[in-house]
Amino acid sequence: MKQKKVLYAGKAKTVYRTDTKGKLIVEFRDDITAFDGGKKDVLKNKWSYNAEVSSFFFSYLEENGVRTHFVKMLDERHMVVHELRMIPLEVIVRNLAAGSIVRNYPFKEGTKLEPPVIVIDYKDDSRHDPMLNDDLIVALKIATPRELAKIKKVALEINRLLFKLLAAQGITLVDFKIEFGRKGKTICLGDEISMDSMRLWDKKTGESLDKDVYRFNKGDVMATYNRVAARITKTRKK
Ligand code: CDP
Repeated sequence: MKQKKVLYAGKAKTVYRTDTKGKLIVEFRDDITAFDGGKKDVLKNKWSYNAEVSSFFFSYLEENGVRTHFVKMLDERHMVVHELRMIPLEVIVRNLAAGSIVRNYPFKEGTKLEPPVIVIDYKDDSRHDPMLNDDLIVALKIATPRELAKIKKVALEINRLLFKLLAAQGITLVDFKIEFGRKGKTICLGDEISMDSMRLWDKKTGESLDKDVYRFNKGDVMATYNRVAARITKTRKK
C-alpha cells in the first residue's frame, strides 16, 4: 500500500490518502497539546506509545465485537484504517468525576459515577467544543435519534471492555473521549484511544498515568507514557 497526499493534519496525527480505495493511513506524531491548543510541545517518541496503545485497544475492541476503523499497523508508526465520514462529536464517558465536570458542576473529584455519565461535545475548536444535548444533536442534523442511541450504546460497551482490561493491570479508567464515523450506514469507532484521550489513575497510589501529567506538569510525561503503555499491552501479550 502506498501513502499519497495528506488528507488532514490534526493536532497529534496526520491522515494520508492511499492508493487503495476506502483506506487511509494515520501517522502518529510527537506533538502534544492541551487547553484548546494553548499549551503545545513536541515530545520525542510520543508517537510510539500512542500508536502501540491505540492499535492494541482497537484490536481488543474488534475481537469483542466493536466495529472500528482499524485495519492493521503498516509499521510501528502508521495505522491503516477504513475511511470514515466522521461525525463531529466528542463522546466522553466518565466513571469517576474529574476534569471539566468537577470545574463546571458540584462534583467532588473522584466521586464514582454509577451508572457512567456520557457527555457529548460538539467537535469545533473555533467554538471551544461546546457541550450538546440529544435535541441539539438532532436539530443540527449531526446524527439521527437512532444513530445517537447506537453511539451511546457502543460508547458504554467500549467503556465496559476498557474498564475491565485496565482494572486487571491496577489502573482505574476515570474517563475517556472517543469519536465515531460512518462507513456506509455502519457507525464505527474512529480516531485513537491513547493516554492523550483518557484519564487513568493508578488504583493503589492514585497517580495520574495520562495527559494530565503534561497538562499540570506532574512529572516526566514520556516516562509515564512508556510505563503505562507497557502495563496496558502486557495485559494480553502472549
Ligand atoms: O481535560 P479537561 O478537563 O479539559 O476535559 P474533560 O471534559 O474533563 O475531558 C474528559 C476526558 O476526555 C479526558 O480524559 C480528556 O483527556 C478527554 N478529552 C480529549 O481527549 N479531547 C478533548 N478535546 C476533550 C477531552
